[in-house]
Amino acid sequence: MIYHSEFKRSIERPKEFWRQQAKLIDWMQFPETIWEANDNGHGRWFPDGVLNSSDLALDANLRAGRGSQTALIYDSPVTNCQQSYTFQQLTEEVAVFAGALNRQGIAKGDRVLIYMPMIPQAVIAMLACARIGAIHSVVFGGFAPHEVAVRIDDAQPKAIVTASCGIETDKVLPYKPLVDSAIDQACHKPACCIVFQRPQARAELKPDRDLDWNELVANAEPLAPVPVQATDPLYILYTSGTTGKPKGVVRDNGGHAVAMRYSMSMVYDAKPGDVFWAASDVGWVVGHSYIVYAPLISGCTTVLYEGKPVRTPDAGAFWRVCQDHGVNLLFTAPTAFRAVRKEDPEADLLRKYNISSLRRIFLAGERLDPPTYEWLSEQTHLPILDHWWQTETGWAICCNPVGLEMVTPKPGSATFPTPGFDVQILDSQGHVADTGVQGQVAIRLPLPPGCLTTIWGDDDRFQNTYLAPIPGYYSSGDGGYVDDEGYVFIMGRTDDVINVAGHRLSTGEMEEILASHPAVAECCVVGAHDNLKGQVPIGLVLVKDGATIAHDELEDELVEMVRERIGAIACLKQAMVVERLPKTRSGKILRRVIRQIADGEEYTIPSTIDDPAILEEIRQQFS
Ligand code: COA
Ligand code: AMP
Repeated sequence: MIYHSEFKRSIERPKEFWRQQAKLIDWMQFPETIWEANDNGHGRWFPDGVLNSSDLALDANLRAGRGSQTALIYDSPVTNCQQSYTFQQLTEEVAVFAGALNRQGIAKGDRVLIYMPMIPQAVIAMLACARIGAIHSVVFGGFAPHEVAVRIDDAQPKAIVTASCGIETDKVLPYKPLVDSAIDQACHKPACCIVFQRPQARAELKPDRDLDWNELVANAEPLAPVPVQATDPLYILYTSGTTGKPKGVVRDNGGHAVAMRYSMSMVYDAKPGDVFWAASDVGWVVGHSYIVYAPLISGCTTVLYEGKPVRTPDAGAFWRVCQDHGVNLLFTAPTAFRAVRKEDPEADLLRKYNISSLRRIFLAGERLDPPTYEWLSEQTHLPILDHWWQTETGWAICCNPVGLEMVTPKPGSATFPTPGFDVQILDSQGHVADTGVQGQVAIRLPLPPGCLTTIWGDDDRFQNTYLAPIPGYYSSGDGGYVDDEGYVFIMGRTDDVINVAGHRLSTGEMEEILASHPAVAECCVVGAHDNLKGQVPIGLVLVKDGATIAHDELEDELVEMVRERIGAIACLKQAMVVERLPKTRSGKILRRVIRQIADGEEYTIPSTIDDPAILEEIRQQFS
């Protein structure tokens, strides 16, 4: 098999392998050193290479003669607007916005926080930062001001770039008041806030701090890409960990660009000129990698879709976009198709459109449940390809290696380790588990290019979370197994992270919020199964002795608190007052059993439990 020999080469001779892949991108100075290891097996890719990620995404396409090819298609059913940019036009827009940022004193190494809906200006802002070597930190528009404030304090941005509003199906959500509130709550104050005014809601600008995007651009000069070291950070992307403080995943420029380019051919079998659509959001890692950087670096046309799989206006939306723009490769989260299937079970809307351009559908972000896989296969007659990855890795750890050869998919499996990722299943002692036996999924170091280099401002946390638990390995936080044919099955997180509609959230963070209510003595949050969203959080709380608040009032207040602090996407809709929480004799809450009870699954009573009768009490409350 071609895959096996490529995989073997990537693991046995990584420097040679990645030197070869590095040749596929346009460096300002090609690296002499391919890999430089630290004492602990982690290290830096291409340390003496020099390049610019915006140059690779834009100018390199002009040099390759693709100036008149469409680079970006903006399709927005919520505003009834479609707009295309050629590589030439996108380069000009980005160069001018880079000039505008530069005029505000933003330069290499400065951070810029981007809080934007799915409009072209979000992509332009990201690429403009990359052009001047500034580090962007995009925050998903569904996060509430408190979450934005936490990120402002951590990244300490010099500027914030935002828009006057986002649009969720038919709701216009003013963004500016959220940003104002976030800046008020944060200790760090950015020097300026650049606002793109949308006609659906205009924002009021504060004269001493806020700047109008269009005015800035009208007075700016285009800027050429500045050379940066391969190891200089390109972006920080915050993701949920096990505590209330999100982790700022840091991505470098060089390793990232090489990985993006390689993944487009290996994982997606994309060619220059293909239309690639990642139906996600620029606020998530999928958006960073596969709406913005990878397709553009690879000379593909990318689609930026401001809508939902359903209700904008119906469950035929995805098929309509594929037809209208001749999409060749589609990538989204299983939740999106569960929503489509729920509303259009016989796929009647699919028959209204011609999707013959579509070659493959890729799914990731959460486990691809076999019923969704089968429905999609039957309805589209297309290869449906599951692949597994994380914000931390930035690209697929396991995939069907279609760029080399397509292997027969197995429902429920993300297929094989991607070349570069030495995936191992380890038992609790850190020993390699037997075939078919579930364990923790770990990656033997070194990680390939493109993976996180550290956590912003907290290298100790990076070391302690990912490298220290099993020396010589990166701990993924996922559990799973490998079958006798080498297929990898990812079964879910082994920590306090849950996946709600393809969005990664921390139950630990929600617990901190519930526990901050004055009437709550103790609490826990578990991710219960949900037919549409995969998982939804459910809170269980113990009321403090002497608290007089009515239980239903408390439950409503707790739901509202989570919505206020994290945002509507947290989807904590149920907070339940219980008499007691099941614990081990040493006082640890038995979250796994609670989740099994919430899901109506069989459970075994743990031998360490303090009082087994509590489980029956909880079961009765759920039923
Ligand atoms: N800005 C502001 N609010 C947002 C938002 C954004 N960018 N995204 C979601 N929200 C809000 C929604 O309006 C909703 O608010 P409500 O409780 O007031 O109605 C809440 O957050 C929950 O949103 P969501 O989880 O998206 O649920 P939904 O019922 O609106 O839609 C799906 C359900 C399945 C259609 C939707 O979750 C979806 O498209 N999922 C695919 C996710 C995806 O692509 N993930 C990317 C990973 S690859
Ligand atoms: P995120 O960092 O938001 O991309 O979420 C990463 C987590 O999503 C992983 O650690 C997994 O738990 C889950 N995940 C992503 N893709 C898959 C997949 N294909 N199969 C199973 N779980 C997945």
